Amino acid sequence: MKFFLDTANLKEIKEAIEIGLLDGITTNPSLIAKESIFNREQIENHYISICKLLKEKEQNISIEVIGKTFNDIIKEGQKLSLLHPKIIVKIPMNKEGIKALNFFYSQKIKTNCTLIFSVGQALLAAKLGANYISPFIGRLDDISYNGIELVKEIKNIYEKYNFNTKILAASIRNPIHIIECAKIGVHAITSPLKVIYSLLDHPLTKIGLKKFLNDFNQKFL
Ligand code: G3P
Repeated sequence: MKFFLDTANLKEIKEAIEIGLLDGITTNPSLIAKESIFNREQIENHYISICKLLKEKEQNISIEVIGKTFNDIIKEGQKLSLLHPKIIVKIPMNKEGIKALNFFYSQKIKTNCTLIFSVGQALLAAKLGANYISPFIGRLDDISYNGIELVKEIKNIYEKYNFNTKILAASIRNPIHIIECAKIGVHAITSPLKVIYSLLDHPLTKIGLKKFLNDFNQKFL
């Protein structure tokens, strides 16, 4: 399973690269708005700086369009795809968006269809040639729907029809989300770095390490 970082923060991206835990990046307009960037030109330069950090062949970054109409989405997506070869155009799941998915498929421009909350949406995105879909697990859990169940259903249907669309599970909020996604066999999860770090924690590991060091120090120091 691939580990993507859900961030636009350069420091966090560099940290994940240093550990060796970065298969790709996803951003969205809310995440880019958190950075110290103040105009369109700076946004583009920021994206290029991120792309330059992605040295491995398979690594990519999904960048979301903000245009609302088909024409605006197309224009913006084409511009993004020319900005850097690592960029996957992230498109919202709506009528204008799915039309754009089909267009980009015909142009061989890679896409990630985002804001997926139902099996029907996932089916449409796959039929129209999305390379990735981003089902939002945490936001479904927030409204008392089971995000993990949705991902299971999508995986099941995609397998039945051999769709090439990859599931990039998003809105990951805790380590259980990551583990459940691994059990389902999704292609990738995208998560904040702190949630990935939470996979590290186990009280017995901490207690065990403390005891090993105490025993050693008592005898040899
Ligand atoms: O990038 C989209 C998604 O991962 C958002 O996550 O935590 O804002 O629901 P969250």
